[in-house]
Amino acid sequence: MSTGQIAALEQYHRDEVLDCTRCPLSEARTQVVPGNGDPHADLMFVGEAPGYHEDRQGLPFVGAAGQLLDQLLGGIDLSRDDVFVANVLKCRPPGNRDPLPAEIRSCEAHLFRQVSLIRPRVVCTLGNFATKLLSGRPDGITRVHGRELPIRLGELPVLLYPLFHPAAVLRAGALRSALEADFARIPSLLAADPGAPAPASPRLEEPTPAEPAPVAAGGPTQLGLF
Ligand code: URA
Repeated sequence: MSTGQIAALEQYHRDEVLDCTRCPLSEARTQVVPGNGDPHADLMFVGEAPGYHEDRQGLPFVGAAGQLLDQLLGGIDLSRDDVFVANVLKCRPPGNRDPLPAEIRSCEAHLFRQVSLIRPRVVCTLGNFATKLLSGRPDGITRVHGRELPIRLGELPVLLYPLFHPAAVLRAGALRSALEADFARIPSLLAADPGAPAPASPRLEEPTPAEPAPVAAGGPTQLGLF
């Protein structure tokens, strides 16, 4: 990425995200959590929303779920400096409740703009909220985890790769082996020629990655947000 592009992401965060008042979550937050990492990362992770520690520190995934994310990244020889980590919501919902549809609608333009500036090749969605938003499909994470899906976000082709949320794995240890197995495929997804079909998933069922790329999250109306 050129210096100009890095500056563009920083400037977007400064101008549009850090003082955002698009939804009532801005009233209760300590800090906005735009996301952090390599602004030119090929690999981006999208979680759900900041929790208590993230809200205090202004950084994503700094609590227990973040430690697990760090471990999983280490397992594929990556660190947080190699990737960009963001969330569907940039502000903490009170008591860490689920994001509301109206909050997601208010905040989604920030995520789409981040994607358009970072231009990742692979976007790992962590859990249901990020997966449903970016796939534009209602399928839950239990069904679609580990199944890569070529999509377009705006005009940018990306490989969407849904994963269980690390916090879900901390609550239900039985999911850990699935998350580790899905993580182990990330290097081959990153190595794939972006113009070529994605490497076959061992878990392939319907829908297949060979399907035409959907326009994510609500269809053409969101194209205007980029
Ligand atoms: N921390 C985050 O930043 N996002 C999550 O989704 C969970 C924990």
